[in-house]
Formats: sequence, structure tokens, C-alpha cells
Amino acid sequence: MSNRFLLLTVTRCQSTTTADVDRVGSTWELSPSRPPGLYLYEQTIQPPLDRNKEWQPLVDRDINCAIDGKKYSKDQHYNIPKQILSHVGRRLYLQPNHPLCLTRELIESAFREGQGFNNCLEPHPVVTAKENFDDLGFPADHPGRSKTDTYYVNQDHVLRTHTSAHELKLFRELQHDLSTGSHGYTLCADVFRRDSVDRSHYPIFHQMEGARAWHLATAHEVLSPSERASKAGFERQRNLEAMKSDLQLLPMWRYRNGLSLYPSTLHQAALDLKAEDPNPTYDPATNPLQPSHTAEEVELVAAHLKLSVEFLIAKVFRQAQNAGIISATEPPRVRWIPTYFPFTSPSWELEVWWRDEWLEILGCGISKQELLVASGISESIAWAWGIGIERLAMLLYGIPDIRLFWSKDLRFLGQFEKGKVTSFHEFSKYPACYKDVAFWLPEDKNVNETQQSEQQSEQQHSTTPALATEEGHLPSEALSTFSVSSAAAPAGGHVSPPSEDAAKAFAGFHENDLAEIVRDVAGPLVESVTLVDDFYHEGKGRRSLCYRINYRSLERTLTNFEANQMQEEVEARLKERFGVEIR
Ligand code: DAH
Repeated sequence: MSNRFLLLTVTRCQSTTTADVDRVGSTWELSPSRPPGLYLYEQTIQPPLDRNKEWQPLVDRDINCAIDGKKYSKDQHYNIPKQILSHVGRRLYLQPNHPLCLTRELIESAFREGQGFNNCLEPHPVVTAKENFDDLGFPADHPGRSKTDTYYVNQDHVLRTHTSAHELKLFRELQHDLSTGSHGYTLCADVFRRDSVDRSHYPIFHQMEGARAWHLATAHEVLSPSERASKAGFERQRNLEAMKSDLQLLPMWRYRNGLSLYPSTLHQAALDLKAEDPNPTYDPATNPLQPSHTAEEVELVAAHLKLSVEFLIAKVFRQAQNAGIISATEPPRVRWIPTYFPFTSPSWELEVWWRDEWLEILGCGISKQELLVASGISESIAWAWGIGIERLAMLLYGIPDIRLFWSKDLRFLGQFEKGKVTSFHEFSKYPACYKDVAFWLPEDKNVNETQQSEQQSEQQHSTTPALATEEGHLPSEALSTFSVSSAAAPAGGHVSPPSEDAAKAFAGFHENDLAEIVRDVAGPLVESVTLVDDFYHEGKGRRSLCYRINYRSLERTLTNFEANQMQEEVEARLKERFGVEIR
């Protein structure tokens, strides 16, 4: 570490002791005399970086690899750190009494086998890029395909980024089941995204997918509404009636903008949920019907989807209220937002009001007919949703940090029990230690002035008010909000607004690359990485960025010495990999 860096790095550390922990080698592994206790996950010994060698990739160079028992050949697209692979196969959603397992079971209880839903699991994490993207209609230039966002095994295989990668296969299976009474499924699996670092984002998390299909008319090709009306009008009408009675079977208690939606037909459940849904179900310009659907069909299927999801959310809230995690005096609030996914139209996101802010928890919509045609159920109409389980579990149990789900510490695991929801008790409030790293991007990686001002004006027009100050700095508060909100939400399959991507990518340097370096160096000891300053120096014609890295162990006090070592390693890798100049 240069003296210059020593002077300029802003270090504020609340932890004080340095003598009690020995350091061995580099990064975050501890000596045999490490403090007692169970650690988040097994800490592998990483050799110190050999500075005489060219940049050492975070991944190994073998030509073949085995992932969860299956062999793959790597190519130049391979970008999966060992750290990520060490999590594969944990199957937390099957571990009895694990909060993710309990949350999966809770979700399944709202979509049960007895109600026609096959409850499936998909343990193997590798899928083809075709399954993850192409089959679902992701455009070739979708940012989710890039190596900054996705872990590639090779050009054709990825670690799935969402459970929707299995939609086509599961719809195909429904082809046989539809006639026998099964008309839907749920699916649970782990998913992987290169992402930013904060308390609610981890590069591996879990999702569930749900779908429900109805017969529309017996036709083996996609028919326009008018064709269908003439060819199979009678059948279609009969199926509409069937959909209406399905709708009436749902236990409903919803208020739409203060009004009960279907007052005469609904069962009033014990718990009220306040659902705000001010927008029309579809919008020809921004959230259109598909050519093969009528407005009436979509209204019915959308109502069924939204009510089914609200039923689930109400169940979760009821348990959280009973456990005293949220107030029982006011009905919980949710709201529906129109959005875009390549594989549904119209599409929506569901947000819940949680600790004074709207939190996105689920994405859904009416499945694209092309997908149903490819699955052999072209005569059907279907809804589908995808939800992040960690986010729901954090809400349900009041768990404050996503890293905890990977803990093997009995102080964490011992708190959860099937059939009982109790508020999570923090067993540690170990101090955090934050360190800033400020650096100039190398000249060839700078955005030029025009791009810079374009980016700033895009940011000004984005929903997050990241306003540039006169000196060209973006205020730290706005930047940190930006960094957190642009991170992958549970329903991150949609196209990010350009402003979000602009904030993360600086022509060659991408925020996710820094996140990966920090995770590789610090493992579970990193809590967040946040952009706190972004400065364009007109005189130098160069751009400077400053990131705040927050180190904190969930299980013990981290020493300043350890934090400094990790910070040094991060800096060294940043310099070697991106040619940045530390300020
Ligand atoms: N796969 C999406 C994501 O991870 C979420 C999603 C959206 C799933 C719409 C769906 C759906 O099944 O219909 O961002």
C-alpha cells in the first residue's frame, strides 16, 4: 500500500482490538487460533496474490469443471469464482427448520397440490443460455445476458439467473397434466447473479416460480380472438365461465383503492389486505394485451393472479402480525405496478409497504402465448409469477441481513421452527468497519465529457433523484440510494432503465466487478459496497469514483487490522485488474 493511499483513504473503524486475532496468508482466513464459534461457511485458504505474475483471475484455469456432480467444459466465458461454487448444493430450502425451507413451505401452502399445483424443486443450478434467455424472449442485447451480470460456465451454459429458466419445461409437463386436473405448478431453486453488495443482496439467493393455466379453446395454433370466437366460440364461452367460478373460489378480502372489488361474491377473510391497483389492467401502448387474448379473458386471469398472490402475501403478513413483527392494528398495504418482462404481457410488480418504504417483492404477468405454443399448450391462457424467497423470509421473520441465511451458527438456526413464526433476535451487534477507496479511472476507461453529461441528465430524469452538483459531484446520499435500488430485485428479469446501467458501468469498469473482487477477498465479512462519490475533473479530463466498503462479521468483532488487510487486497486487485490509480 502506498503512503499516498494511506493518507487519502478515509478510514473510520469502530472496532479497536488488533492483537487478539492472528493473520495467516491473505484475505479473510483466520489462524487455527481463530475465535471459537461456527463460521458462516468454510473459509478456504487463498494463497496471497503474487504481484510478480500477471493478473490472476478470481477463477481457476482448469478446462473442465464439475458443478453439482455434472461435468462441463469451460471456455473463455467462464467467470464463476470458487467462492460461488462453494455454495452450490447447500439446498437450504430443504433443510428442516431453515427459514428458507419454512418460507418455501408457506408459499406452497397457498398453491397446494390438492388445488392442482405440482410443487417442484430444481436442484441442479446449470441451465442453457437458451433456457435462461432465448426461450423467454430476452433480446440479444438485454443487459442481463452480459458477463457483468451473469455467471457463465461456457458460452452456452450459465448458472440460472432466475427460476423462469424452467418455465418452458414445466409448461410442457402441464400438457399432460391439464386433462388430469393439474393446471399449475410452483418451483423452488437457487439462482445466481453478479450483483452489488448490501444487506439485501447476495450473489446466490432463492426464488420461487408459480404458474396456472386454463383451457381457452381447443385449437392447435394461436388464434386471434375473432378466429377463436367463430371456430370455438361455444367452448371459449364455457371456459370463461369456468374461469369466473375459479375466481369465486378464491378467498378474497381485497380492497382496491378503498373499495371492495367483488363485494357480492367474496368471502371475507379474517385479515384485511389493502391493495392499491390504480392502473388499468392493460395499456395498449405500455403494457398491452397479446393479440391472441380478449380483454375479458385477460381481466379474469389478471384478477385471479392478483388475488392468488395477495392471498399468499396476506398469509405471510398474518403470521408476521401474530409474531409481533409488524403492527396488527393496520391492514398491511400492497400495490401493483405495471412493468415489463420479456415473457409476459401485460406484466406487473407487487410492492409491499415495509418499514416506511415500498419494497418490490414479486414480478408476474400473463404468459406470452409463444411460450405456451412452444410448450404444446397453445390452447391455454396462463399467469405466472416469480418471487425472491429471502426477501419474503426477511420480512416474515424480521431477519436484517441476507448473509445470515448461509450461517451454520446454531444461534441463528436454532431460532426457527416449523409451525411457529417468532421474531428473529439478533445474536450479534458486532461493530462495522468502513473504509473508502477512491480512484481515478484510467484514461481509456473514462467516459468523455459528452457521455458524462448525458449520464447525468439521464440520472436527473430517473425516478431516483441523483442530481449533479455544480462541481460535477453527485451527492453521496443520492448515489447510495441509487446503488441500492439498482441492485437486482427479486424480479430482475426486466430491462433496467438506461439510467441504472449508466450508474453501474463506466466504460470498461463495472460496479459488479468491484463487488466480485470485494466478495472474493472478504467473503461473508463484507456487508455493503456503495458508490459515495462520482467526480469528473474537467482539467484532468478524468473521472474519479469513491466506494465505501463496509466490513462486518455477523459472528465476532472484526479487527481494524483485518479490515485494513482486506482493503489493501481489494485495492491491489483493483489496480491490477482495471489499471485504476488509487487517490
Ligand atoms: N423471473 C423474473 C425475475 O427474476 C420474475 C418473474 C416475472 C417470473 C414474471 C415470472 C413472471 O414467472 O411471469 O426477475
